[in-house]
Amino acid sequence: YRTLRVALLGAGAVGSQVADLLLKHGDELADRAGATLELAGIAVRDVDAKRDADLPRELFTTDAETLIVGSDIVIELMGGIEPARTQVLHAIASGADVVTANKALLATHGSEVFEAADQVGAEVYYEAAAAGAIPIIRPLRDSLAGDRVVRIMGIVNGTTNYILDRMDTEGADFADVLAQAQALGYAEADPTADVEGYDAAQKAAILASLAFHTTVPLDAVHREGITSVDAAMIESARHAGYVIKLLAVCERLAATEEGATEAISVRVYPALVERTHPLASVHGANNAVFVQAEAAGDLMFYGAGAGGVQTASAVLGDVVSAARRHIAGGVGVGESTRANLPAVPIGHVITRY
Ligand code: HSE
Repeated sequence: YRTLRVALLGAGAVGSQVADLLLKHGDELADRAGATLELAGIAVRDVDAKRDADLPRELFTTDAETLIVGSDIVIELMGGIEPARTQVLHAIASGADVVTANKALLATHGSEVFEAADQVGAEVYYEAAAAGAIPIIRPLRDSLAGDRVVRIMGIVNGTTNYILDRMDTEGADFADVLAQAQALGYAEADPTADVEGYDAAQKAAILASLAFHTTVPLDAVHREGITSVDAAMIESARHAGYVIKLLAVCERLAATEEGATEAISVRVYPALVERTHPLASVHGANNAVFVQAEAAGDLMFYGAGAGGVQTASAVLGDVVSAARRHIAGGVGVGESTRANLPAVPIGHVITRY
């Protein structure tokens, strides 16, 4: 096999598992990719930090910039906007394909990253950026490319689903369950990103952009978190036959007047979900994305939306795809096929699903 040089940026919960699996399953992945995937190095801030996996020390470096040069595939798992944005653009400019799980980066600088990739014929893979291990990016981008997605209702944040579920099933206290979600490693470094809906809003922007072939900026997403949800609200919802879930709802709005353009609404808020709806049975830190498309009808994608090794599965799938593309000498899907539907965020509605 031809050898492809892979650079990994970041060795946190996901990064360390990606490195571990890449080293453990190298032969198998090489057979699937048609290329040997050589882990050239792992760029981190602190070489001596404690990791979730036992990795060869000689792979670590603090010099991401040098590691990137000459790499065929750069896996960015640093998270956050900077220095991730600079390194991703550097990777693209150096001729690498990029695999990233960085929802914050894509939701805020997606257009810049995709345009930079388009210009040089590079590809950006981001299956792990929304709903962790669940394959949802490819289904929206590829499998449903011939259909018209009408609505997406997603439980896309594991931490808040874990909190709401424990409050619903055990009458647990908000602060206690949040602390447990943090201890289990689901929560973001700053759990405000989870409980205030910022994390879900970033994922909603990514999913809506793909589903509606447009660019939904993060500030067009209406966002409400779960901090106002209390035991009494959960109890009265239960009596009425509903469960409260933090939903990311992305909808195509029909043009109301003749000549008016179609628009979309993207919003994240605690919604009432009928207990008989498939989304009501998504428990714990799991995620689910319920997609309604004109021809396909209702589809549901379910699984682990957070967790290091689970998310590593989606990252490595992207690495194999990137390697196959390299070997085939193919061109990327590109984002240039995006139409431009105006994003119209609408305010809070207690919608029953
Ligand atoms: N904090 C996120 C969650 C991690 O709870 O879903 C995965 O993006």
